[in-house]
Amino acid sequence: MLELNNSDIEKIKSSSHIVFFTGAGMSAESGIATFRGKDGIWTKFKPEELANFNAFIQNPHMVWEWYSYRRNIVRNAIPNPGHIAIADFQNYFPKVTVITQNIDNLHKRAGSREVFELHGNIERNYCIKCKTFYNNIGDSMELPKCKCGGLIRPDVVWFGEYLPEDQFNRSEIATSECDIFFVVGTSAVVYPAASLIYTAKHTGAFIIEINIEETEISSFANKCFIGQAGKILPQILEKVKD
Ligand code: OAD
Ligand code: ZN
Repeated sequence: MLELNNSDIEKIKSSSHIVFFTGAGMSAESGIATFRGKDGIWTKFKPEELANFNAFIQNPHMVWEWYSYRRNIVRNAIPNPGHIAIADFQNYFPKVTVITQNIDNLHKRAGSREVFELHGNIERNYCIKCKTFYNNIGDSMELPKCKCGGLIRPDVVWFGEYLPEDQFNRSEIATSECDIFFVVGTSAVVYPAASLIYTAKHTGAFIIEINIEETEISSFANKCFIGQAGKILPQILEKVKD
């Protein structure tokens, strides 16, 4: 049973800007594995072997194959009721912003219009030499080469790399302006993305966490829902939508 009291409901209903900050747990119910936790990818693969630039230079085939594998999973996945509820919030609230750490496109595919992608997007790729972009590359496991001869990499943020500045800056502005800040399906341990939660707190947003377990930020969230995003989000929307 969803424990949302009348004052919480009124608070959400009267808000003019809602931000959803999401992580891998958001897409778990779409069949995309999370990074941490018992079924997490990083329990099977070492991030330093796959998700960094040196690994790519040393073994581009292996890294490309890994991303092709994940790209195929993402392409075959469909947005779950949580993604759909978030997109549906746009029909009832003046401004809704999604800030995601996910690279899987599922928020956009569900219909969310303002989506900031802090860790890139697996459907975008670019040549490391001439920076030409290649979108929607086929589903071959073969490492593609740019017309200039350079290696093509996925446009995702690897360990040790900076976040896309424009996406992060716009996320910070949205975070500091919003009334309600949902934190959905993230372990909140990867920075600088997780710093947005502290920004939200300092700038006075009402923080609502949705996760299947407690996290680092549960102690200072104004409300925590323990459960699956795909179940909780539609229930919240149902209570606040008219
Ligand atoms: P994590 O794998 O660290 O955390 C996933 C979170 O989702 C955990 O707290 C789970 O408890 C929760 N969870 C799992 N299933 C859920 C569900 N159905 N509903 C709600 N919550 C659920 O993923 P992130 O926090 O997104 O970065 O990880 C952050 C970054 O670390 C990723 O973007 C990636 C990774 O290294 C890069 O690749 C740059
Ligand atoms: Zn090139």
